[in-house]
Amino acid sequence: MAFKFIDLFSGIGGFHVALKKLGGECVFASEINQDAVDVYKKNFQMEVYGDITKIDLEKIPHADLLTAGFPCQSFSKAGFQNGFSDKTKGTLFFNIKEILSYFVNIKQPIKYILLENVKNLTTHDKKDTWNTIINTLQKLGYIVHDYPTIMSPTDLDKPIPHSRDRVYIYGVHKSYNIDLPNIEFTKKNKNNSNLFASNILDFDVDRRYILDSNKVRIIEMWQELLDNIDFKPSFPIWGNYFLYPSDDPEQAPEWKLRIIYRNQEFYREYKTYIDKWAEKYNFWNLKPTFQKLEWQCQEDCTRLNETILQFRPSGLRAKRPSFIPALVAISQVPIIYYQDNYRKLTPRECARLQSFPDSFKISENDYQAYKQFGNTVNVGVVEYIARKLLEV
Ligand SMILES: C[S@@+](CC[C@H](N)C(=O)[O-])C[C@H]1O[C@@H](n2cnc3c(N)ncnc32)[C@H](O)[C@@H]1O
Repeated sequence: MAFKFIDLFSGIGGFHVALKKLGGECVFASEINQDAVDVYKKNFQMEVYGDITKIDLEKIPHADLLTAGFPCQSFSKAGFQNGFSDKTKGTLFFNIKEILSYFVNIKQPIKYILLENVKNLTTHDKKDTWNTIINTLQKLGYIVHDYPTIMSPTDLDKPIPHSRDRVYIYGVHKSYNIDLPNIEFTKKNKNNSNLFASNILDFDVDRRYILDSNKVRIIEMWQELLDNIDFKPSFPIWGNYFLYPSDDPEQAPEWKLRIIYRNQEFYREYKTYIDKWAEKYNFWNLKPTFQKLEWQCQEDCTRLNETILQFRPSGLRAKRPSFIPALVAISQVPIIYYQDNYRKLTPRECARLQSFPDSFKISENDYQAYKQFGNTVNVGVVEYIARKLLEV
């Protein structure tokens, strides 16, 4: 089916990739970030308008569908508290509303809408933000469900091992006299997928993705400790608390004290071994984040090289290889052991986790590429929902 769409907050074009596949033609895109615009233009060879708050509504062509993965700011601060009669004022949702309202006023409502946001949008500010958005769309004449549709790439018919629950708001304008579908899918058990058994990983990757020897040594250090204790830790291991008295019990919260005491007990139990181990790895002089391990696999994995790892401020986290936690930022790019090396996932693999085809041209700047795939919408999920909404 041929249809036209408007791509707001377009990023690198997750909506665009999915909708083009369904026969859509993009007639207008807006994105403020130049690095994302560069990638968008490279892939779609079209003009991308900048800041949506500065665009004349008359410049926007009519379309059958408007999409937006809009940044979510606090509605409460911008709303009634500041004396606006319009609760969306001061938020970027206001600009979506203005565009939809413009077309309603000239008696050419945009037929369909498809918006995406983080799951928190549905509970933010005691649900006031969610209710404001839904009421605003309904007032403009859109039929939308007042319950949220929360979907992740792990829920697709062919699940992608990437856990990314996002809320999708879809609607149809009442003037077209068509029923709003109830888009259904089966919420799948995320633990049933497996990154290593998927088509996401490349065999050969550039050397720059291979983990540096310092970090490999940190992983080996923790592996050696795991090999020498006879259980899998169900509490975070905080080596920086092994030796020292706990935080001031007056100051530290209960949960933290409990972890500290558990760590000190653990140290006392394995002291003979831990002291030798700590000396071998110069453990006491490592920076605090390297002195921490979060084993989140219970008994499902035996070694770190079977898990998905992340160096986080809270320590080295090891989780089951079933799925990648939602991609967000470059500092926490997931690490895997593959083809005899510990290495980061590459930007291309991150693109696949967001269901982008390999023909998609990605930024040559890795920092930007990781950030962009952390920001983008999952192409497969958009395709799934748009296909049902537009009945294509
Ligand atoms: C959550 S991301 C959406 C990503 C997009 N759906 C994609 O597929 O890549 C939100 C985007 O809104 C952009 N943005 C923020 N303020 C904007 C504005 N005033 N005008 C246009 N774009 C804006 C950000 O730069 C960011 O890329």
